[in-house]
Amino acid sequence: MDQVENLTLLPEVRCSALRSLFQSGSPVLSLAPMQDITDLPFWHLMSKYGGADLYFTEFFRVTPHYVPEKNILRSIIENPTGRPAVAQIIGNDLDAMARTAKALEKHPVAAIDLNLGCPAPVVYRKCAGGGLLRDLPRVDALLAALRDAVEGAFTVKMRIGFESPGEFDALLEVFAKHRLDLLTVHGRTVAEKYGPHVHLDRIAQAVRSLPFPVQANGNVVSATSAVETLAQTGAAGLMIGRGAIRNPWIFSQIRDRLAGREVSLPTGRQVLDYVSDLYEAVCSPGVPEKAQVQKMKKYMNFLGEGLDDSVAFLYDIRRCATRYEFFSICSRHLDHGRAMPLQP
Ligand SMILES: Cc1cc2nc3c(=O)[nH]c(=O)nc-3n(C[C@H](O)[C@H](O)[C@H](O)COP(=O)(O)O)c2cc1C
Repeated sequence: MDQVENLTLLPEVRCSALRSLFQSGSPVLSLAPMQDITDLPFWHLMSKYGGADLYFTEFFRVTPHYVPEKNILRSIIENPTGRPAVAQIIGNDLDAMARTAKALEKHPVAAIDLNLGCPAPVVYRKCAGGGLLRDLPRVDALLAALRDAVEGAFTVKMRIGFESPGEFDALLEVFAKHRLDLLTVHGRTVAEKYGPHVHLDRIAQAVRSLPFPVQANGNVVSATSAVETLAQTGAAGLMIGRGAIRNPWIFSQIRDRLAGREVSLPTGRQVLDYVSDLYEAVCSPGVPEKAQVQKMKKYMNFLGEGLDDSVAFLYDIRRCATRYEFFSICSRHLDHGRAMPLQP
């Protein structure tokens, strides 16, 4: 192990990596954790298109005898982005969560992040992810246990409540008791899933009332919506999920807008090249063509929403089975030189 790698393993160095990012004076742009999407090849691709300042892993789903999955660990160990990586964990068993956090800290992570937002019924019914937001004493205990266990930076990503945004007031009181290094607030309740409205006022409330940096998350889909979200919340950073799958240029576009430079939009042909890059990046050799095409449909569900003829594109894509059909459909819709805002 070389000296630089050795250094990145020291908790105080990792803590300062995150802290200095948030003290840089510019809003920090993070790539959101997205299960089965934000793996190592995807991180690599995002970094080639301008890239985020900070990368979150998909969640490590912690159970009592849990051993971290090798494929998620790979993104941290081989992190190809040149930027700090944050390891996200989800679960509710205090000992297992603390033990896993300590184990993950043996790798070059900038922080350990606790997921308090996952809205999937299979997760929240087990009182993990967003399900924990209904149990404030458990949240309190988990924050205390993890703060105690994590030597470096400890961060949390949460939704604003389970059923109602009004639950956020009490949640903030619990959060204020703990020394976090960053809180990412996805401005929806669990019940709201991915509904159209993001409660920016609730994110602003967190920014005003907490003594540590707060990142805003939810529906940042363009440089314009990024600037609006920052203005309305006062957040120290933005976390971007689906908008980055659809538009990998979004991080550069936001940086350009914030620096007062003109924002350039990709042409249809550049988007087509991105789809080809994505196909090459995320599809492993040896995997049958049909399975590769199937995998691409997951990404296309998001990208397709940004096309003018979204309905027709998604109709065709969902029915194709071969690589040839897949790229014929993409070419039909994208082989042009018009600028594409790539917004749903
Ligand atoms: C396919 C998918 C997988 C996700 N997986 C995770 C996850 O592993 N951990 C997490 O905290 N959030 C997860 N999320 C939520 C996102 O991180 C983010 O909070 C949400 O998409 C809202 O941000 P956006 O509007 O920029 O997409 C996932 C979202 C999607 C669409």
